[in-house]
Amino acid sequence: MIAIAIDGPAGAGKSTIARRAAAELGYIYVDTGALYRAVGLFMIKKGISPSDSAAVCPLLEQVQIRLAFQNGEQKVLLGNGDVTGEIRTPEVSMAASDVSAIPEVRTFLFSLQQNIAKTNNVVMDGRDIGTVVLPNAQVKIFLTASPEERAKRRFAEMKEKGEPVVFEEVLADLKKRDYNDSHRTVAPLVPAETAIVVDTTGNTLEQSVEKLLSIIKSNLNEN
Ligand code: DC
Repeated sequence: MIAIAIDGPAGAGKSTIARRAAAELGYIYVDTGALYRAVGLFMIKKGISPSDSAAVCPLLEQVQIRLAFQNGEQKVLLGNGDVTGEIRTPEVSMAASDVSAIPEVRTFLFSLQQNIAKTNNVVMDGRDIGTVVLPNAQVKIFLTASPEERAKRRFAEMKEKGEPVVFEEVLADLKKRDYNDSHRTVAPLVPAETAIVVDTTGNTLEQSVEKLLSIIKSNLNEN
């Protein structure tokens, strides 16, 4: 099986770019952030603070998450419900970042991620795919852009959806998540030793997709 690991901070365009690259290569696209989001949503629904590890851990055995792939699109199922849309709110983003710092949550989601890559060619995006989940991935990319550029993109996306947003809040949220994600003790967000760092600041989406595809293809040919 072939695995392409794409890691990087929030808002770097990982999901859009990785989804396009997967479609082009005929691989399935796995968005692992959705798993942490589903755990975060579960805890919010239970009325538990997502950063309260003592409260979160005992509930993990009740969390049933499945990923389904329909026409290359990932659906996230929590229990019997489809939460694909519901996990995209700013509240769930922060909850996901909080639960993701809890080691037991990471262990809980680890085999689910590995199993998908055992039976499918994947482009998998997240924070620790190249470092922890798929250390043997054939190609590892660390996709990034400046915080201001990432916040600008997030802001435009949310505005387009008609959500009431303030740019400064989006930027502050993003910086807080960056800090959380890169300072936690387990599997912090850092480029894998062999990752190719791709900075998309100033690039259009098309340019970023092109750049990524050419890196992936040339690296697959070399391996
Ligand atoms: O990629 P995203 O914004 O949907 O991810 C939501 C949160 O989940 C993010 O703040 C960090 C965490 N995450 C993680 O710790 N490891 C991953 N492989 C993917 C996401």
